[in-house]
Amino acid sequence: MKKLTLTIGRKDTVACDITIGYDIMDRVGLLLAKDYGKVKCVMLTDSHIASLYGEEITRRFHNMGLAVTMITVAAGEATKNMETALSVMKKLLELGADRTSVIIALGGGVIGDLAGFVASVFMRGISYIQIPTTLMAQVDSSIGGKTAVDLPEGKNLIGTFYQPQAIYIDLKFLETLPDKEMKNGLAEIIKSGIIEDIGLFNLLEAATKPIAERDRKILATIVEKACRVKKGIVEMDEREKGLRRILNFGHTLGHALEAESHYELSHGEAVSIGMVAAARISEKLYDLPSLDRERIEALIAAIGHPTRIPPSFATEGILGRLKMDKKRVGDTIHFVLIKKIGFPFVNGGIEENILRDVIEELRS
Ligand SMILES: NC(=O)c1ccc[n+]([C@@H]2O[C@H](COP(=O)([O-])OP(=O)(O)OC[C@H]3O[C@@H](n4cnc5c(N)ncnc54)[C@H](O)[C@@H]3O)[C@@H](O)[C@H]2O)c1
Repeated sequence: MKKLTLTIGRKDTVACDITIGYDIMDRVGLLLAKDYGKVKCVMLTDSHIASLYGEEITRRFHNMGLAVTMITVAAGEATKNMETALSVMKKLLELGADRTSVIIALGGGVIGDLAGFVASVFMRGISYIQIPTTLMAQVDSSIGGKTAVDLPEGKNLIGTFYQPQAIYIDLKFLETLPDKEMKNGLAEIIKSGIIEDIGLFNLLEAATKPIAERDRKILATIVEKACRVKKGIVEMDEREKGLRRILNFGHTLGHALEAESHYELSHGEAVSIGMVAAARISEKLYDLPSLDRERIEALIAAIGHPTRIPPSFATEGILGRLKMDKKRVGDTIHFVLIKKIGFPFVNGGIEENILRDVIEELRS
């Protein structure tokens, strides 16, 4: 097992270990039993994961001295809302949970965000543990303490910053992950390489085949490297006041495309096109070497994500969505751009005509 420690703050430091390994659930049960063996432990999961792993994990934890009660919610983004959060909190009360209780989030980003949100407000805050089961959650959403639920008006509009006690990443979960979800996670790993780790980017280029075959060794390496990138950025800027924004590379246009497609495009697909657009803007305005832009497009294509905007999308529709971006400040749409691979910066605002040109280019 590999262990990274995420440390936040100088005074009142919060530390959270990120443990990465393969088939580690028995050891995780043992570790959790030491800390939480005498308190009420509730595992929150979704219906897919419950049917794949619910019984097995409950039994393995039980054998290690940890009794857990499972709360299962429907799988999918539609579950991540206030109604579900309230129903989970009512169930916690029915189960006799109190301030000493712990919530274990077993699932993808939907479960992680929901469990973190509930943990942050239930009885003014109880402990929670992240056991991410999608590649995206392992390298991104489980790390950094952002919790959220959606409103009909938009995604992640209600939430808190609340760090988990620990994050346990078991690569064995990836064996049952559908290809589409695997590719969503790979898009975020490519992003980590582009913004912070040229070594990771080079490795991804060299290893597209073993990655597609889900080679265990290469997955362990790229997950660890991507976790290091996320951890390093969160440590410097937990509350997204500055540096953490670079994690949004590809996401500004990506979110607009996702919304414009009515979520027909997956997050990974939309972010992939967004990264291509950000690279093109960087090439036009900030002399990103053409070779870097070509490498980014080639890597995204090699993992099977689109590099072009579907022609059915209207340019004006996409521009309209960009103007609604919740991360905009006033009328300015901030874009994360790069000077070269590994050197990101937040641009102070892109003129609409440049955005229009790039969107048009990518629709052709
Ligand atoms: N908190 C953050 O910093 C942060 C960052 C990025 C994204 N997010 C949030 O994450 C959410 C998306 O998360 P996601 O992409 O993990 O989606 P998800 O949680 O919906 O999981 C995707 C699907 O995969 C299934 N699944 C999960 N693990 C599986 C496994 N091992 N085997 C088979 N099936 C499995 C799930 O049941 C679900 O159907 C969004 O709500 C997004 O807002 C949060």
